[in-house]
Amino acid sequence: MNDKYALDNLLIVIIGFMGSGKSVTGEIIARKLGIDFVDTDQEIERIEGMSVADIFTKKGEMAFREIESSLLASVCSRYPAVVSSGGGIILSSKNRELMEEKALVVWLKCSLDTCLQRCNGSNRPLLQGDNVLSAAESLYFERENLYSSVADLELDTTDMTPQSAAEIIAEKIMSEISCKA
Ligand code: S3P
Repeated sequence: MNDKYALDNLLIVIIGFMGSGKSVTGEIIARKLGIDFVDTDQEIERIEGMSVADIFTKKGEMAFREIESSLLASVCSRYPAVVSSGGGIILSSKNRELMEEKALVVWLKCSLDTCLQRCNGSNRPLLQGDNVLSAAESLYFERENLYSSVADLELDTTDMTPQSAAEIIAEKIMSEISCKA
């Protein structure tokens, strides 16, 4: 896609670490812009008929990643839409290439402490076990460059509500669209 800010084919993909606020923020942005919203984890759970945690346990992480990539490929051809992705979507080079080509990618940056506080009590499969902190730290620092490499826009949401983050992002996108109109 040449013009990522064209209203008719606007495809916004929200990326970021677990707990950065992707799902809630993405849904508010979609509402503000009056376009469809897709949450890849929720969609995977609907298609597979089980939770993400159960997919990891019963089918394994690799199977989850395959389902996630094929869903991304399918949602990337349905626009205008806002897509909130799972935190690991950027691990696959194929996913990164697809997003770079097709989508306006928005990275919700957020400190690891805040992400972990927000994930506390959730059953995210990658945040279980005795060494949650060191496992999360490794994932967080391994992924930072990958998020950065595909992001068209980034916003630090550490001290921000999803509502404020969504307002800032929607305004930025709408002003780019009207500048080009
Ligand atoms: C994952 C993040 C999760 C979910 C799965 C794997 C990851 O989504 O896709 O548990 O690898 O970071 P959220 O980022 O919405 O928690």
